Amino acid sequence: MTTTTTPQILDGNAIAAAIQTEVTKDVQQLHLQGIRPGLTVVLVGNHPASEVYVRNKVKTSAALGIKSESITPPASVTTEEMLALIATLNAREDIDGILIQLPLPAHVDAKRLLEAVSPEKDVDGFHPVNVGRLQSGQPSLIPCTPAGIIQMLKRSGILISGQHAVVVGRSDIVGKPMAMLLLHENATVTICHSKTKDLAGFCRSADILVAAIGKAGIITPAMVRPGAVLVDVGMNRITSQEDFDRFFSGNSRREATFREKGSVLMGDIDPHAFALASYYTPVPGGVGPLTIAMLMANTVRAARLRRGLPV
Ligand code: GUN
Repeated sequence: MTTTTTPQILDGNAIAAAIQTEVTKDVQQLHLQGIRPGLTVVLVGNHPASEVYVRNKVKTSAALGIKSESITPPASVTTEEMLALIATLNAREDIDGILIQLPLPAHVDAKRLLEAVSPEKDVDGFHPVNVGRLQSGQPSLIPCTPAGIIQMLKRSGILISGQHAVVVGRSDIVGKPMAMLLLHENATVTICHSKTKDLAGFCRSADILVAAIGKAGIITPAMVRPGAVLVDVGMNRITSQEDFDRFFSGNSRREATFREKGSVLMGDIDPHAFALASYYTPVPGGVGPLTIAMLMANTVRAARLRRGLPV
């Protein structure tokens, strides 16, 4: 592994823009064939962060020439009503991608809903058929965040093959598919989680460290090997002065935000650790923009696959 003295920022906005330019060209090609890819995002209830994510997904779709709509059932919606809605969306010819925004209210059976989405319209890659296809090396529609991270690493010329990749977090959305994708790229993969003994020891042996556990600053500088590649998927809002001082004291830009809003966003990696890295993703502006770019790419892929066009 090469160690650079100056850590390089992996600019998620720039890489996402490059992917979106490619997707726009693909969409224009489909338009010429009379095909307009369509995406429906279902957002249940009023989850403030989800509302922002969904707005961005719909806005980006429109900018790329993808027809998109959001459907917003109330928080009181039942599993049966959601199943009926999904059946309607599965049957609609004008829709290529269906995304059920998570988290869902606790009374809704999320697993049943994700299984009800037609695998060929499952642009999140959460359906068991798509999970199985990824696992068995016949990837079809792949979860957007881990797919975006692989794109980011490859497009930045970062070696994956043979490297020790440590994924911290085992969610179905990020941790598990991330580990599988890194394995398919010939990394040696370790998955750590909240019950892992000696988390610090595993992290210190990582050439590529992907933090996706949802705990602000849990990865400390002492857990990072100099020269490692740090990928931070966490998106945590910190509100206490104590946390702010611990992670951002002396950072005048963040201090202004904290004073104005009473909170700042940060990842799972203590920002002091970035100085040790060869490459790192900032929060915000790292992994986040890639998730949306890959959702756009998956929607076009789904549109092509459903019509038997090459991908
Ligand atoms: N909530 C947070 N990330 C995601 C995602 O990638 N897909 C969906 N459907 N919901 C999310």
